[in-house]
Amino acid sequence: MVGLVAVSGCADSTEGATDEGAEELEEVPTYIVGTEPYFPPFEYADENNSNEIIGFDVDLINAIAEDQGFNIEWKDLEFDALIPALQSGQIDMIVSGMTITAEREESVDFSDPYINAGLALAVAADNDEIQDVDDIQGKVAVVQQGSTGAAKADELKEEGLIEEVVYLAHVSDIVMSLQNGRGDFMINDLPVTKSFISQNPDVIKIVDDQMQSESYGFAVKTGNTELLEKLNAGLENVKADGTYDEIMEKYF
Ligand code: ARG
Repeated sequence: MVGLVAVSGCADSTEGATDEGAEELEEVPTYIVGTEPYFPPFEYADENNSNEIIGFDVDLINAIAEDQGFNIEWKDLEFDALIPALQSGQIDMIVSGMTITAEREESVDFSDPYINAGLALAVAADNDEIQDVDDIQGKVAVVQQGSTGAAKADELKEEGLIEEVVYLAHVSDIVMSLQNGRGDFMINDLPVTKSFISQNPDVIKIVDDQMQSESYGFAVKTGNTELLEKLNAGLENVKADGTYDEIMEKYF
């Protein structure tokens, strides 16, 4: 490696460098990270500063960025817009509690899995009719648009098991639809549903916490091995040095 290396977060601390010197500086790259930030505890607005996104994914990718020497710029998008944005080059990676699936692997490349988070079925807290997955026959599912929960509900509909699937943009809308009776049950990521319940007790309840097991990965544009290798190497390092466990502790 030739010349100076500007380390993460210090891209501006090059005062004194002449123009020629600056050319020799290894630029710290900034990657644009797409996310749908209404998904606690993975990515959500800080209640003290709604412009700031916090969460498990945020801490994890920041730790990886620090380890690998890159900067991050966040871009908020709807969940179902993330993959198209990656493909069109609007963003460099997806960090959004995104499940690694064979179907998505056809359009993006995933990092190594960074957490397990399966699907759970939940209903309004006062719903006595649906007590487990056998009781959803003829019922209306509500899911997040473009999510694996939506794919699962589509499957159930195709099998003729359920009546209808309602697709909404955010988990909070989904919960509301159970409260107002538009939908009968929701299929959503277990840790997110659990986190909602711990923040808002007595609104919804989980009736099946093992609908489907899943793992999350970071996604990059197909063929972007340079970035993918940084993500995998960084993930390995933050796991090895205990940072990953600290982040786990903080959010779970
Ligand atoms: N894990 C699910 C999926 O990949 C849902 C993720 C939703 N993430 C979000 N930030 N809204 O389809």
